[in-house]
Amino acid sequence: MRHFTKFENLELGQKLVEQALKYKSNPKLDFEKGQGKRIGLIFLNPSLRTRVSTQLAALNLGMEPIVLNMDKEGWALEMKEGAVMNHGTVEHIKDAAGVLGTYFDILAIRAFPSLTHREDDVNDFVFGQFLKYCGIPVVSLESATRHPLQSLADQITMKEFAPTGRKPKVVLTWAPHIKAIPHAVANSFAEWTLGMGHDLTITHPAGYELDENFTQGAKIEYNQAKALEDADFIYVKNWSGFNDYGKIITTDPSWMLTEAHLRNTNNAKVMHCLPVRRNVELSDEILDGPHSLVQKQAENRIYAAQAAISYLLDQY
Ligand code: CP
Repeated sequence: MRHFTKFENLELGQKLVEQALKYKSNPKLDFEKGQGKRIGLIFLNPSLRTRVSTQLAALNLGMEPIVLNMDKEGWALEMKEGAVMNHGTVEHIKDAAGVLGTYFDILAIRAFPSLTHREDDVNDFVFGQFLKYCGIPVVSLESATRHPLQSLADQITMKEFAPTGRKPKVVLTWAPHIKAIPHAVANSFAEWTLGMGHDLTITHPAGYELDENFTQGAKIEYNQAKALEDADFIYVKNWSGFNDYGKIITTDPSWMLTEAHLRNTNNAKVMHCLPVRRNVELSDEILDGPHSLVQKQAENRIYAAQAAISYLLDQY
């Protein structure tokens, strides 16, 4: 069974980017494809872009999207196998996911990491339980380890703004934040950017090394100024410690991207998945100025989701 949960291969990545761009120029191109079909969007965590863009994508394909904010409106779920449910949880994931699998043609799930139980998070335990028991194709709306719809939208955006005739230099830079933030966006951006054949430099303070499973092939440069030299795209993102799991190691404000950081770049375009902490991760001057691609990325979330859902509908 096909799912959309991660980067699979270059051929599929390129196909999805091309399909998304076709949908962007003609959103109702495949309006017949999803008619009579339903997609369930299950949120265990908050969302603005993912929630709305995925619904719009489904509607463009003629599907009926139904949103369940499981964290607020659903029963408290038990995830552990063989649990004796005599405490707070009300419904086992086996039962809940099984039921959802009978209600929908495709199930889409957002399940953030705990940032306290590294092994469970690395193995995408909660997301994996839905996948295991729903029995239908699944789209990741962001799991503990990955955010593939965001990453596909980011690849579409880079394709639209790439320099002609040469490979762009892409830099992923850590940024400060007041809270411990998951690794999914950074992991996924690295996975997709490398998988699509781009050169990627990752820069962060010592101690913020990402899971090497996602960064193999990237250049790691601890000096941010050096990393940013000649950059064409700068992806700004905070993440918490991976080795010192879920911890804030530093909030050094000098890592916040400002206009001054762009001085030695190749007139770089600046990206961020949003939501962004203004003047903590990224300065107002960048976010409100000509270098920013953040609104373009958010718009492309619709067509990324549309391409991914369309790909899953093709298996019917
Ligand atoms: N970028 C992103 O996933 O945004 P939301 O958390 O608002 O869905």
